[in-house]
Amino acid sequence: MIKIIRARDYDDMSRKAANIISAQVILKPDCVLGLATGTTPIGTYEQLIDWYKKGDIDFSEVRSYNLDEYRGLSHDDPQSYHFFMNDKFFDHININPANVHVPDGANDDADAACAEYDKMVEEAGFCDLQLLGIGRNGHIGFNEPDDVFSKGTHCVDLTQSTIEANSRLFEHEEDVPRQAYTMGVQTIMNARMILVVANGENKAQAVHDMCFGPVTPSCPASILQLHPNVVVVADEEALSLCKDC
Ligand code: F6R
Repeated sequence: MIKIIRARDYDDMSRKAANIISAQVILKPDCVLGLATGTTPIGTYEQLIDWYKKGDIDFSEVRSYNLDEYRGLSHDDPQSYHFFMNDKFFDHININPANVHVPDGANDDADAACAEYDKMVEEAGFCDLQLLGIGRNGHIGFNEPDDVFSKGTHCVDLTQSTIEANSRLFEHEEDVPRQAYTMGVQTIMNARMILVVANGENKAQAVHDMCFGPVTPSCPASILQLHPNVVVVADEEALSLCKDC
């Protein structure tokens, strides 16, 4: 079931999402958080950092598993998702670095890197709360539109639309890696709660299709309709095609 929470704007979306994550950490201090990169959750991370600094949240026992990583980039490469997470979140809170997990982009053996990550997520008991952004084409993690839903962590070829969307964070489009390791749709669905954040008009179609379209791998996010506990926090623009919710 998808519950939609309407936010006024990006800041309101970020605070509402941070409130939900904060409640999870307060209720279960050693919870397993599935985390996302991208621009959408940055404000959520900033709000959580702010509350951590005020002494309202303690991340010392939290374990985190990120959704994805570019293949070929090591954790200290400034373009890697691991670096992004340190820079935008982990370096500013008291999470134990040993409890932070991101797929190992530096491991060129894709099968081994993905199997190792799946084993870790499974041994952690899967995520209590999985935070997701959504791509303009309905992707979640790097699970791009396809003929089938993916299962566990796997290596993907990025679509041209994702390469173009992600090139804003690189100097040249040619610099964007062409492959990534990503948690599969089934791994994401194993989370006990899923929190999707979305803002801006360019996400409106994807948000509509995720919540109200047919459940199809051509819009990977649509599978969330089959999950018992999904919350979408989105601003007015992202909800502009969801008139009656
Ligand atoms: C990031 C991720 C992606 C993004 C999506 C939206 O770890 O897995 O699925 O959530 O591409 O990205 P933004 O937030 O930059 O629009």
